[in-house]
Amino acid sequence: MQKDTGLFITVEGIEGVGKSTNIEWIKQCLEARNIQCIVTREPGGTLLAEKIRQLLLEVQEEPVTELSELLLVFAARAQHVERLIKPTLSQGQWVICDRFTDATYAYQGGGRGIHRSTIAELELLVQGQLKPDLTIILDLDPAIGLARAQQRASLDRFEQEEIAFFEKVRKAYLEIAAAEPERCVIIDASQNLDVVKSNILLALQQRVFNGE
Ligand code: TMP
Repeated sequence: MQKDTGLFITVEGIEGVGKSTNIEWIKQCLEARNIQCIVTREPGGTLLAEKIRQLLLEVQEEPVTELSELLLVFAARAQHVERLIKPTLSQGQWVICDRFTDATYAYQGGGRGIHRSTIAELELLVQGQLKPDLTIILDLDPAIGLARAQQRASLDRFEQEEIAFFEKVRKAYLEIAAAEPERCVIIDASQNLDVVKSNILLALQQRVFNGE
């Protein structure tokens, strides 16, 4: 997969799958090949988008409607795509992003029940043709993931959801992976960290490092 622009790699999964550790590993794998890259996240990645992230994650006194949540996610993404992701890719640097639009299909679509076509319309409006070149989906039983996430200091608005919500999110991720096998790789995140890392490296070698 040779392009003048950088490649766009996203990492997805429910809470507690180990995204941060594995994103750090992906960065090391790229740097070992002298590939310049940045790591960013969604919601977030720019000053304004990080403010929107705060609004989305903090527990609100006023119930957040599903549509408000969806529009806030895409408002943050519009800023992130135009201000950071596209300019970085066009400079030839790679972008590793902790979550992207698959999270919207999984959380707002699978989890909250918003129709796929509504999300697809906003996706087209905000991203145009921009899509990840590779998406790594870390898959884990929500009971294990949530137990890990609950060991952290305090739970955000999403982490306070019932396990049934995360079962739906996980199912949606697996459906995305089945529908787009060229773009998505599922990695079993219940395995030992060294095994997870070597499976990620293998996916990078096969899909974006041209076998190196
Ligand atoms: P995290 O990045 O720390 O995992 O937290 C971000 C939270 O935001 C996570 O619970 C998933 C949620 N989220 C959505 O609901 N929709 C989205 O499109 C994105 C990017 C994240």
